[in-house]
Amino acid sequence: MTETNTRVLFNSTPEGLPVPGNFRLDETPVPEPGAGQFLLRNLYLSLDPYQRMLMGGGWTYSPNVLKPGDLMVGRVLGEVVQTNNPDFPVGTHVVGRLGWQTHVVSDGTDLDFVIDAKPGVPLSAYLGVCGSTGVTAWVGLKITGQPKAGETVVVSAAAGSVGSCVGQLARDMGCRAVGIAGGPDKCKLVVDDFGFDACIDYKAPDLAGQLTAAAPDGVDVYFDNVGGEILETVMGQCNRLARIPVCGVLARYNETGEAYGNRNMHLFFDKSLKMEGFVLNAHKAIWPQARAELETMVADGRMAYRETVADGIAAAPEAFIGMLQGKNLGKQLVKLT
Ligand SMILES: NC(=O)c1ccc[n+]([C@@H]2O[C@H](COP(=O)([O-])OP(=O)(O)OC[C@H]3O[C@@H](n4cnc5c(N)ncnc54)[C@H](OP(=O)(O)O)[C@@H]3O)[C@@H](O)[C@H]2O)c1
Repeated sequence: MTETNTRVLFNSTPEGLPVPGNFRLDETPVPEPGAGQFLLRNLYLSLDPYQRMLMGGGWTYSPNVLKPGDLMVGRVLGEVVQTNNPDFPVGTHVVGRLGWQTHVVSDGTDLDFVIDAKPGVPLSAYLGVCGSTGVTAWVGLKITGQPKAGETVVVSAAAGSVGSCVGQLARDMGCRAVGIAGGPDKCKLVVDDFGFDACIDYKAPDLAGQLTAAAPDGVDVYFDNVGGEILETVMGQCNRLARIPVCGVLARYNETGEAYGNRNMHLFFDKSLKMEGFVLNAHKAIWPQARAELETMVADGRMAYRETVADGIAAAPEAFIGMLQGKNLGKQLVKLT
């Protein structure tokens, strides 16, 4: 085979927002599958905020921070192009956390799932709305947030991959969905395309006043993707017994200084609030059910989604940096072929 495997390696630790020099492109021969293995040509790469934490240089949840020369971690959607495994015939599409690279050999044990694409659901959706980010929204909202019809659900990073799905699931469950996003264009998208009842702009003045207008009955579930000052503001308008699923802390990922100190922790007592973090990987048993529901919603036209797609693996570092700055609408992908 004359093709090469192009990879993106971790090169150096960022200080704050990553720069292109923190990554390095590398070419190796395409690997040959051994007994029981198959070769994947990767079609799409998923870019996700957690990858910033794996780069170190600031706060991180992970003990496994990357070292220079390591392959960047990330999920890919690949197609089997050569096989020595009858369970994975040529043409099979799979998703797995196999790294930022164009080709990879697998024996199937390192995959998330094999795609059995539902009519009306494009392949790329299995890295976003019908993949890990959609399932994150489903798990965090339904299992941790437990909204009831008639309640108000607020979600931050609402124009992004997880957030856009959370609001639509909330609407589907009979709730009022209020998004928080950066800038008027994103807020318009959240209402017009994703069907939220309202969306407020955290970059504009008076977030608290905007929230009071958008959620006049108070907040029953706050799906927190961000933490920091936005969390403090939303907590201030939570109703008694409100739930706060903590999905991520976007405000922290590029910060090197002290974390924002929440000043209204007393509300946990005053209003019997419940805040609970969750990680997708702790809920693997429910992934197939969640994916099936999301696929049905996409196929039926009840779940809108957007993808921002960069072209070619060399564009991955810039696209990743752009996503951390909010340049993406919906899911940030890289098309590899
Ligand atoms: N718990 C889990 O298992 C799990 C799994 C997957 C993802 N997550 C988390 O889910 C969250 C959303 O991830 P995603 O993949 O859907 O990313 P995303 O929302 O598609 O993209 C990131 C968005 O974050 C917003 N943002 C960046 N910095 C911000 C800041 N300082 N304050 C407020 N917003 C900021 C930007 O939108 P604006 O232009 O609106 O600022 C940007 O578009 C992240 O916290 C991620 O770590 C958690």
